[in-house]
Amino acid sequence: MFEFDPYAWDFHEDPYPVYRRLRDEAPDYRNERLGFWALSRHDDVLAGFRDTEHLSNARGVSLEESSHPDPSQTASFLAMDPPRHDRMRALVARGFTPKRVSDLEPRIREITRMHMDRFLGDRRCDFIQQFAGLVPMDVISEMLGVPAEDRDRLRHLADTVLHREDGVAGIPAESADAARSLMGYFHGLVADRRKTPRADLPSALLEAEIDGEKLGDRDLMSFLFLMVIAGNETTTKLLGNALYWLWRNPEARRAVTADRGLVPAWAEETLRYDPSTQILARTAKGDFDLGGRRIRDGEKVLLLVGSANRDDRVFPDPDRYDLARDQSPSLAFGKGTHFCMGASLARLEARVALEEVLDRMPGFEIDPAGLVRVHSVNVRGFASMPVRF
Ligand code: HEM
Repeated sequence: MFEFDPYAWDFHEDPYPVYRRLRDEAPDYRNERLGFWALSRHDDVLAGFRDTEHLSNARGVSLEESSHPDPSQTASFLAMDPPRHDRMRALVARGFTPKRVSDLEPRIREITRMHMDRFLGDRRCDFIQQFAGLVPMDVISEMLGVPAEDRDRLRHLADTVLHREDGVAGIPAESADAARSLMGYFHGLVADRRKTPRADLPSALLEAEIDGEKLGDRDLMSFLFLMVIAGNETTTKLLGNALYWLWRNPEARRAVTADRGLVPAWAEETLRYDPSTQILARTAKGDFDLGGRRIRDGEKVLLLVGSANRDDRVFPDPDRYDLARDQSPSLAFGKGTHFCMGASLARLEARVALEEVLDRMPGFEIDPAGLVRVHSVNVRGFASMPVRF
């Protein structure tokens, strides 16, 4: 039996052959050494997302054990199970409305153009460092009403929270320090909006109420923190991966260049083909049977999203990057109870940013020698991507 090791470097280089072996040879794979089960087929990953009775988010969604005794203190309702999860998500949904998201489009375009304006004259850039790594956090700051002068500092803190050292297990001290500073910042922001409400999301969330229940300051701070963890790096990776796969697929590139209406499909197929979030962990609640295996209380079960999205039982010719295919079974934003709350925001950001790329960076070429991948267990994408246009 081969070993599936999500920490291994060659796995990060190209995980898809490993996923295929798991789906074909070991759909109920167990790694004794690292202590987890792995679900790799689309049907099983989907069932895993839906089974909140046996599979819990309360210990967080990474393979690494959370350093916090209560992960929901920072990951909010992502690290809660129903019914607590559902109550809190419903309250947040009162403020995080589709209209609040769609109203952001003109500001997202301005933010996108502002970052592009800084390198257009050079006819070259590092697409991650100078663009994809900057726009998503500025959009979150915009939603949260963070003033322009604080944004660089906030982005730096957010990036440091998510930074991991290659080959070093656990959470680096700088990351924990940055998490405390970020929480401190949100503490001040929430206190300010309690005193002086504005037209931003935190003010709307302080007002939100269901059956007399409201969000406390601590709930709100952890939700703001969750937006940064969930909405920043994932969107950065999507933009980088979209550029990369279009560059690698001339046929798709011709199609989207000729028809801007295909930009949403470009983003969607990128998320299907090479999703930002590759692996999500769950923790077994009690003993239960899964595909004839006995899973024990407290064991980790990995949902391999990247694998599910390449399953030929659901996607014909799954290793083909094809803008015309039906992407609707994609699990890139999860499914069910924890389905990504920011999916429409991520799609809007991607559409605007990628439209601007087509318009303002025509004929872009990536320098393959300069590509640097991120080394992360959960997230797949680039840290550096030199581009000429
Ligand atoms: C391409 C970008 C994104 C991807 C691929 C993505 C992916 C995901 C996935 C897979 C989940 C489910 C996690 C689980 O089941 O354990 C999730 C949850 C979540 N995402 Fe996203 N996300 C993206 C962007 C965003 C953005 C921009 C925001 C908001 C600013 C956001 C906010 C959230 C929140 C709040 C949750 C928790 C939902 C819950 O537990 O009920 N995401 N995301």
